[in-house]
Amino acid sequence: MDADKQAVTVIGLGSMGSALATALLDRGHPTTVWNRSPQKAAPLVEQGARLAATPGEAVAASPLVIACVLDYDALYGVLDQDTSALAGKTLVNLTSGAPEQAHEAAGWAREHGADYLDGAIMTTPPGVGGAEVMFLYSGPQAVFQAHRPTLAALGDPVHLGENTGLASLYDAALLGLMWSTMTGWLHGTALVGADGVAATDFTSVALRWLKTVSVFLTTYAPQVDAGRYPGDDATVDVQIAAIGHLLHAAESRGVDNALPELLKTVMEKTKAAGHGLDSYASVIEVLKARKEQGQ
Ligand SMILES: NC(=O)c1ccc[n+]([C@@H]2O[C@H](COP(=O)([O-])OP(=O)(O)OC[C@H]3O[C@@H](n4cnc5c(N)ncnc54)[C@H](OP(=O)(O)O)[C@@H]3O)[C@@H](O)[C@H]2O)c1
Repeated sequence: MDADKQAVTVIGLGSMGSALATALLDRGHPTTVWNRSPQKAAPLVEQGARLAATPGEAVAASPLVIACVLDYDALYGVLDQDTSALAGKTLVNLTSGAPEQAHEAAGWAREHGADYLDGAIMTTPPGVGGAEVMFLYSGPQAVFQAHRPTLAALGDPVHLGENTGLASLYDAALLGLMWSTMTGWLHGTALVGADGVAATDFTSVALRWLKTVSVFLTTYAPQVDAGRYPGDDATVDVQIAAIGHLLHAAESRGVDNALPELLKTVMEKTKAAGHGLDSYASVIEVLKARKEQGQ
């Protein structure tokens, strides 16, 4: 352990919490751990972690307390057992949840005299500790800056803003992006696979295509912000014609078409809203949150 490194407590030693504690130990942070099932601490204790006997003892051990348990019920179930040591600490909550739960937890921490950051881990446990992996945080900037060097042991710390709900909100949005992308890739893989193409062969081409798609996103984001969608690259009408080819190719090979059918429906709604000659970014007009009348 390095005497100049901040002491950290990790509460919750499931797959993710254990990876977090390991990354901190690897960087020389004096690390105290606690888990409902204490046997999960054994490999970490071998690496130099100290096992606290109770959640209260764990919180008391370090100025920075990182919690990563299954959900918010588990979080309160653990931390409410003994809140006496929380005052003056910083609680970084990496438990997944909704933005509203993050706001509530920040209020709970404030009541107990603790600073609070909410966080979202944008990787699986084997990725923890990698410099490229994003850890998203939201909450007071000053609290984030104070603990940034320690949080960097886990991955690249990205502060999204002072609104405590932002990390959970981005997490949900980014997981939605991941599922859509992965399902689109698997649909394409099933389509070319029907004609004997190996997934690995398709994927090397698909990865190059995703780089081009990321250029489209960069072009379309300012259009969304401006609410103007010049169709000078490809129009919604052109995309509706093109998705017909995907539907035909997939249907004639017996590939499930639920995903492209859904996409076509959204494109047609966009056209019906008057955006047939606009860019694909105009789909946002169908998707975005509606303001209640009078607001
Ligand atoms: N795994 C991932 O790839 C990943 C990625 C991003 C975010 N996350 C988030 O990280 C959090 C933990 O995930 P994980 O993968 O580590 O899950 P996990 O391996 O199932 O571990 C769950 C942890 O929560 C504890 N726990 C569950 N119910 C509890 C209760 N009622 N009281 C006290 N402790 C309780 C478990 O304690 P016991 O050991 O005693 O059961 C364990 O420490 C989740 O919010 C998850 O969404 C995970």
